Amino acid sequence: MTLTYLVIGANRGLGLEFVKQLSEKEGCKVLATARDLQAAGELQALARKAGSDKVQLFELDFTSEESLASLTPSLPPFNRLLINAGTNSLRDPLLTSSLDMPSDLLKTFEINVLGPLKTVRALVPVMKDANVEGGEKEGKKVMLMSSELASIERIDIKGTNSPSYSVSKTALNMLGAKLALELTPLDIDLVIMHPGWVKTDMGGEFAPLEPAQSIAGMLSTLESAHTGSFMGWDGKVTPW
Ligand SMILES: NC(=O)c1ccc[n+]([C@@H]2O[C@H](COP(=O)([O-])OP(=O)(O)OC[C@H]3O[C@@H](n4cnc5c(N)ncnc54)[C@H](OP(=O)(O)O)[C@@H]3O)[C@@H](O)[C@H]2O)c1
Repeated sequence: MTLTYLVIGANRGLGLEFVKQLSEKEGCKVLATARDLQAAGELQALARKAGSDKVQLFELDFTSEESLASLTPSLPPFNRLLINAGTNSLRDPLLTSSLDMPSDLLKTFEINVLGPLKTVRALVPVMKDANVEGGEKEGKKVMLMSSELASIERIDIKGTNSPSYSVSKTALNMLGAKLALELTPLDIDLVIMHPGWVKTDMGGEFAPLEPAQSIAGMLSTLESAHTGSFMGWDGKVTPW
């Protein structure tokens, strides 16, 4: 096993598809998290089918520093960290939404911006010091799951839709660009990615892409992408 992936938010949607594809890949091992493992039936079934030498499951709320602290001692070494979890459930307009907690904007920031930051802060020290057997030449990489809706250049695509989500993912992009610089001396790459518009609970039934297509593209793009870049699932650079 030369690549061990840790997938954050793996119980449904794109996270679940990451685990599915990686569990079928030669030379890979997957560590996967969900907020509530009891309720993660499909993920549990995948893990059982693949076997515990291939897939291991852990409970995590990535917005909670306590939850992250209790996860870290139990993790085997990993060299790929995929921070996939995110939300787009709150859609009030910016002009009128409340700014008191839990408002759309602040709640969305807590999950989409602070969740990834807390996760990187908790897990990079573990990743930096631990080596996957045989994985020395693979290097170490972090992936932040962003969205094309973060792109200011492409603001016309959705106009006023998903305001809190878009603002939070744009902030996530700058977070990723800054973290990529801080991670360079530690020999850890960080890539920010857009998965395409994909059929999941979040993407909805009219999305043109199937999860299988998006995730296959993302896994291969991640391996060739430069640190600090914003990449689409299809290997094309996404404009900031
Ligand atoms: N689908 C698309 O078209 C699309 C497009 C662009 C970007 N994305 C991004 O891709 C990622 C995955 O999206 P998806 O389509 O798979 O969405 P999804 O089907 O709604 O799944 C979201 C995942 O994030 C987890 N999550 C949400 N809030 C969390 C929290 N507070 N703590 C821990 N986990 C939490 C969910 O866990 P629970 O089940 O416990 O809630 C679930 O595993 C997101 O970051 C999203 O912004 C998706």
